[in-house]
Amino acid sequence: MAKRSTTYVCQSCGGVSPRWVGKCPSCDEWNTLVEESDAVSAAPPGTLRSQSRGKVVELESLEGASEDEPRITTGIAELDRVTGGGLVPGSALLIGGEPGIGKSTLLLQVAAAIASGGGEALYFSGEEAAAQVRLRAERLGLTKAPVRLAAETNLANILATLGRSRRADLVIIDSIQTLWTDGLESAPGTVAQVRAATQTLIRHAKQAGPALILVGHVTKEGQIAGPKVIEHMVDTVLYFEGDRGQTFRILRAVKNRFGPTDEIGVFEMAGSGLREVLNPSELFLGDREASAPGAAVFAGIEGTRPILVELQALVTPSALGMPRRAVVGSDGSRLAMLLAVLEARCGIRLSSHDVYLNVAGGLRINEPAADAAAAAALVSSLSGVPLPQDCIYFGEVSLSGAVRAASHAAIRLKEAQKLGFRRAVVPASLEIEGDAGRLELIRVGHLREIVGSLGADEA
Ligand code: TYD
Ligand code: MG
Repeated sequence: MAKRSTTYVCQSCGGVSPRWVGKCPSCDEWNTLVEESDAVSAAPPGTLRSQSRGKVVELESLEGASEDEPRITTGIAELDRVTGGGLVPGSALLIGGEPGIGKSTLLLQVAAAIASGGGEALYFSGEEAAAQVRLRAERLGLTKAPVRLAAETNLANILATLGRSRRADLVIIDSIQTLWTDGLESAPGTVAQVRAATQTLIRHAKQAGPALILVGHVTKEGQIAGPKVIEHMVDTVLYFEGDRGQTFRILRAVKNRFGPTDEIGVFEMAGSGLREVLNPSELFLGDREASAPGAAVFAGIEGTRPILVELQALVTPSALGMPRRAVVGSDGSRLAMLLAVLEARCGIRLSSHDVYLNVAGGLRINEPAADAAAAAALVSSLSGVPLPQDCIYFGEVSLSGAVRAASHAAIRLKEAQKLGFRRAVVPASLEIEGDAGRLELIRVGHLREIVGSLGADEA
């Protein structure tokens, strides 16, 4: 008989250790190891038993008919955009995010939209009592939608309910960390429980065909298994991000087997639920101050959509031996690179200055094309000369200081024109395909030209 042994599993990264230690050897998180009996945890029901004799499966070629996935459109355009056209029946979608960001609100709105359209939508709430969910529905004005609701955390009960009720189109589990199976010894929320519950629910979705949406909390403490440990099992992973102090919320696809992963959906949390923001640029530029130094408008692209956003820089003389560099909404190492290029190629010395860079509105930017705008904002703050109000910037800055071309130029320029901008500082080598509107283009080949126009070169 096999000896039953105990292992310690990191609740943050899933790493396994034979002994308990304070710090996970794989991901260096503290206090994340939890004892799990591997006799059950390694083998979710029915996975390892059928090792004996398999049946021959039919092998196919890559050619042949392939159908487009049928889609359930939710009627929430921003969500449909991020998922690549709607939910796919039989697929599993994980939506992760910090507590309080608005996951339950969004999903209740989705369930109501599908139920109102004649679909069968089931909502299993593991965190809130039915009365609490009803209270939220009241606030959202959705009490009339025929959503079917249950407060349940026992996986077996959920499966039995799914087996007995009308064929569902949408099943929502809020959240996966609250589910438990009595077949496992580990506590609810541990990696073993979360994995087993996810696997069982995915199997049900594949067989019975509802679109499955799982909610997963991201926690920093690692007390509860993070959504990371089930990302590989589901078809689509969305993250719901935003600053709780701000009203914007951004839905971002980080994995999608049925669509693109670079689209974002923008929402605004209002008194009566999440509102779609169909033109995010207007929102992000909404309360721009008139001609303050250190602000530059970047014409960015998220997926296929242009987003104009203000980059704000503050450069002040530092009293510290090691001046501060802080970035919000962008990458710290890109700022370090830009500062080095400004110093080495344009003669702008910032080593005795504190430097802060902020992307307005709580947006996160990953595009290298933001370099030119960031550099313009930095130099403008240093010299105290405001940048022209009607001008946008984009272009990647290379280590030599050259400003390099960026993709989707026409879309960026048209969006800027739509919002009333008249000029654009663009890379000299930029090729514009299609109609780019009537913006005046100021082509720059080197960062020095942007710096020179602000009267700050060789400072
Ligand atoms: P919730 O959906 O419960 O977050 P999550 O499920 O991700 O934990 O939303 C929580 C916050 O949203 C809560 O602090 C209150 C706020 N909220 C509104 O501002 N307007 C609304 O209409 C609703 C329902 C919630
Ligand atoms: Mg919730």
